[in-house]
Amino acid sequence: MRNHFARSVPRSVPFYARPLGVLGLCVALAACSEQGERDMKPAVAGGDPARGQGLMAQYQCTACHAIPGVPGAAGNAGPPLDGFGRRSYIAGGIPNTPGALARWLDNPQSMKPGTPMPDLGVSLEEARHMAAYLATLR
Ligand code: HEC
Repeated sequence: MRNHFARSVPRSVPFYARPLGVLGLCVALAACSEQGERDMKPAVAGGDPARGQGLMAQYQCTACHAIPGVPGAAGNAGPPLDGFGRRSYIAGGIPNTPGALARWLDNPQSMKPGTPMPDLGVSLEEARHMAAYLATLR
């Protein structure tokens, strides 16, 4: 029994390849624990693009914006949001990061006082889902 592990390693595996197996196991464990964390606090770790897509239809963002994949009569009071995942800035000067975009959707005035984009009463969690969807637009 003491030699069980040693015997279970096939002779054909070269000695230098064995640490690779150990490394692979570590990577797999790290990936699993990361997944577990994400399941526990989805609202903090990021948004769900599919939910964001539905929420943008629900909040009628399309009354002012053309948004690919979101149905509705596309208004043009606001800029079109196609390719938003590739944009460097939000509303001309705010660096386009997922966190900043979520805060913008939650409360545009707090990010750019005087902006014509209204506060639509979107919660921060809902804003994260919408930001996740907008990030998929390339
Ligand atoms: C009443 C019209 C109106 C509605 C409704 C509206 N927006 Fe806007 N939005 C604007 C305007 C106007 C701007 C430009 C603001 C600025 O540059 O200061 C803007 C800017 C934006 C930007 C930044 C665009 C860019 O090119 O930098 C995003 C992203 C955005 N809106 C998303 C949304 C989402 C998502 C919703 C729905 C929850 C929404 N908007 C609802 C008018 C609107």
